[in-house]
This record gives sequence, C-alpha cells and structure tokens, in this order.
Amino acid sequence: MLPKPIIALDFPGRTETETFLKQFHEESLFVKVGMELFYKEGPVLLELLKELGHEIFLDLKLHDIPNTVYSSMKILASLNVDLVNVHAAGGSEMMRVAREGLEEGTPSGKSRPKIIAVTQLTSTGEEQMRNEQLIHCGLKESVLHYAQLTHSSGLDGVVCSALEAGAIRDVTSSDFLRVTPGIRLSGDSVDDQKRVVTPRQASDIGSTHIVVGRSITKAKDPLGAYLKVKSEWEMES
Ligand code: C5P
Repeated sequence: MLPKPIIALDFPGRTETETFLKQFHEESLFVKVGMELFYKEGPVLLELLKELGHEIFLDLKLHDIPNTVYSSMKILASLNVDLVNVHAAGGSEMMRVAREGLEEGTPSGKSRPKIIAVTQLTSTGEEQMRNEQLIHCGLKESVLHYAQLTHSSGLDGVVCSALEAGAIRDVTSSDFLRVTPGIRLSGDSVDDQKRVVTPRQASDIGSTHIVVGRSITKAKDPLGAYLKVKSEWEMES
C-alpha cells in the first residue's frame, strides 16, 4: 500500500494547526512538522498529533558535527516520530552516526524512525552551487552524488524533487525512499516553487512519498483537496 500523502503543517502555532486538523474529522494523516511550528510549540505538539492518530515527519534538517547530531538523534527517537532528516552535506560519518543515535534512542518495542537526507535544497540553483559551494559539476550530478552517499551511509532515503526521483532510484535501490515536495493539483498556484508536478506525475516518475503544503492548506476545502491528492496519488497508472 502506498504511504499517505504527507501534509506540510506550515502554520505558526498550535491554534492554527488544531483549527486546520479539525476539518479532517477522524481521518488519520501523515503530517510534516517543520522548524517554525516545532520551535514554537515543541515536543508537546508532537504528543498531541500522536494522540490524534497521525504519523509524523519531523523536518528539522540536522547539520552539525557527528557527535552533536548523534546525541540529538537519540532525543528525536524518544519523541515518537516516524521520519526525521539531516543534510547530506554533513557527510557520511555524520549520517552514519545519526542513524546510530536513532537506533540507540528508540524505546524498546518501538520501531526506529526512518531517516532521510536533503541533497541540494530545491532553492539552490546551479550557479549559486558553483559560486558559493564551489561545486563544479551540474546540479543533478551533485544531487545524485549526495543520494548515493546517503544510501552508502545506511540512511533510508532522500528528500528530492519528483523530477529527480527516477534517476535516484536507478543509482540507489527501489526501496530507497524518494520523498518529494513541489506537488500541486493541476490548476493550483505554483507559489514560490520553481518546478512542480501533480501527485499522479510524481507517482509515475518514481516518488515513494509526496509532501503537499499549500495545495491542501490554502484550499477552500482542505479535506476535499486532500482526498483529491490522495486518489490521484493512489491511482493505478
Ligand atoms: O506549500 P508547498 O506544497 O510548496 O510546501 C512544501 C513543503 O515542503 C514546505 O514545508 C517546504 O518547506 C518543504 N520543502 C520543499 N522543498 C524542499 C524541502 C522541503 O518545498 N527541498
């Protein structure tokens, strides 16, 4: 069975989040909590989301020295979340110990949260990568390189553009997660995303998970938009 579309809870606080989630009644969801909401509300919000029966992607994109990431991952594993992430640019040693920290911090009887890495941020352009990071290959080559590094470091997958998902599967493995934001229902505003695809296209190209924010959170009927995303995503091609 395909994983549920992940709804990005890009809200400033608990009140707005609860108001939004009330519209979903008993539907159990997969939600993404990013830095803004987590820094405002902290672990208590995660407990609330779990009480409501939702799966959680805690999107904090850790990037620090291996020892700090290791200790932080031990803590994140105790927060009962399902998916966490790091920046692949932190290196293979950092990624390897991030996973170890998760394993050690997972309470007995529970399963370890999955861990994925950001390759190049989708906001980074090729020129910026060359001029500021001094990486002199193409952007796609850098993304594929980081995906392979993530795979060989023992992580479960990457965050990437759906447009790169097929190529990443081909250089890693079919069970390596390709979690893809930049999703819009056809006819929706693109906003600040540069390259967007529909849920149906993402599934055809090779995403294993999709992350959808504004197409659902800003819709007049968020539940209706969510069900539309879900049915397109789950449709057999
Ligand atoms: O509203 P929208 O669907 O564009 O939201 C996408 C979500 O995915 C946001 O929470 C954004 O921060 C996140 N994201 C992204 N691109 C990445 C990584 C995360 O858009 N490369």
